[in-house]
Amino acid sequence: MSYLKTADPEIYDAIVKETDRQATKLELIASENFVSEAVLEAMGGVMTNKYAEGYPGKRYYGGCEFVDIAEDLARDRLKQLFNCEHANVQPHSGSQANMAAYFTMLKPGDKVMGLDLACGGHLTHGHPINFSGFLFNFTGYVVDKETEQVNYDELLKQAKEVRPKLIVAGASAYPRTLDFERIRAICDEVGAYMMVDIAHIAGLVAAGLHPSPVPCADFVTSTTHKTLRGPRGGVVMCKEQYAADLDRMVMPGIQGGPLMHVIAAKAVAFKEALSDDFKAYQKRIIDNANVLASSLMEKGHKLVSNGTDTHLMLMSFVDIPKVTGKKVEIALDKAGITANKNTVPFDPEKPFVTSGLRLGTPAVTTRGMGADEMRTIADFIDRAITARRKDDVLADIAGEVAGLCARFPLYPERNA
Ligand SMILES: Cc1ncc(COP(=O)(O)O)c(C=O)c1O
Repeated sequence: MSYLKTADPEIYDAIVKETDRQATKLELIASENFVSEAVLEAMGGVMTNKYAEGYPGKRYYGGCEFVDIAEDLARDRLKQLFNCEHANVQPHSGSQANMAAYFTMLKPGDKVMGLDLACGGHLTHGHPINFSGFLFNFTGYVVDKETEQVNYDELLKQAKEVRPKLIVAGASAYPRTLDFERIRAICDEVGAYMMVDIAHIAGLVAAGLHPSPVPCADFVTSTTHKTLRGPRGGVVMCKEQYAADLDRMVMPGIQGGPLMHVIAAKAVAFKEALSDDFKAYQKRIIDNANVLASSLMEKGHKLVSNGTDTHLMLMSFVDIPKVTGKKVEIALDKAGITANKNTVPFDPEKPFVTSGLRLGTPAVTTRGMGADEMRTIADFIDRAITARRKDDVLADIAGEVAGLCARFPLYPERNA
C-alpha cells in the first residue's frame, strides 16, 4: 500500500475508502464475499506479469514453469473438490465460463432452455440483451406461480414441445434446492445436453450441503468468488469426453492469455475449500440464512417460496403498495446495509425498479456473525423499510450497524 500511496494517491484513497466501506457496512449481496489475506496476496502478486497462452506443459510462451505449478494445483484441487473428470480454470469470469461451455456444445441458432431472468435465472442463460440471447434460440422456463419453485413436470412438458439441444439449470436468485437428477432425466427424455451453472451455490455443493450436479451434468460452470470465497473468476468442469473440445474453446476459442495471478489465487481458495473449516463455514451460511429468513417472516415480510434452503432469500414487496426493490435498496444503503433490488417471479415492475430484494449471508458469515446477529439484522431491515422516507431514523440505524460491524473486524491489518 505504501508504494501506491506515493505513486497514485487518488487510487490509494479510493481503495482505503472501499476497505472502510466493506468494514463498516453490512454486506448482504448474495453474490459477494470476503476472500482471505492469502487469496489477496496471490492475486496481487507477480504472476500478473506472465503471459501463458496454452495449458501447463503446452504453452505458446517460454518461462512458464512456475505458473504451470499454479495452474496444475488449481486444476487438481478443483477436481478433488467437486470430484469432476475434467476442469478448466482459465475463464476470466462466470460469463466466459458459460460462453465456453455453450460454444463447445452448440452452434449459433441452436435451441436452448434456461430459467427466465425474472424467476431467478442469469443474463447468460439466454436473456435477449446478452450474447447468449443474441446467438442462440433460447426459450425461458418459469417457476410455478403457487410454489415459486421449478415445476419439473411443466419443465418436461415444455422441453418436449421445444426439443432443445441443451437445458441450462442454475440461477442467480433462486433460494431453493434444485433437483439435478430430475433435470437429467428430462434432458435424457428429449435428447438434450445438460449444463448446470453453480455460480451461486458452488461453496454449498463443495461442502456437500447441496446435491452436486457433477455426476449427472455434461457441463458444470461456476464463478469462484461467491459462496466459494475465491478471487473473481470462472471455471468449467465437464466429462472427459468433452475435455479437449472445451480446452480448445476456452483458448484459443474465446480467450487469450490466462490471468495467472487469478489462477494462483483460485488454487489458494480451492485449498481453503477442501478444509473442514470451510465445510463448517458453509453450514453456518445456511443456518444464518434460515434465521434471517424466519426472523423476517416473523415480522410479517413475504419471502419468495416462503423461505430458503440455501445462502440467499428474496423479499417480495409485490403486495405492498408503492414499495419497490429500488426504494428499499436505497433506504437500506442509507442505513448502512448493502443489498440489491431483484425481480421476483412474474414481477410487475421493470428490472431497474423491481418488486424484490435479494439478501445473502455468505459475507456476514465470513465475518463471524451468527444467529443473534441475523436476528439483529432482520430488525435493522424491518425498521429501515418502515422508516424508508425518514433519513434521520436511517442514519440512526447506520450508527447501530457500524457498532455491530466493529465487533466483527474485517481485514484488521488493512485498517490499521
Ligand atoms: C448464476 C450466475 N452465472 C454466471 C454469473 C456471471 O458471473 P460473472 O459476473 O463473473 O461474469 C453470475 C453472476 O452473478 C451468476 O449469478
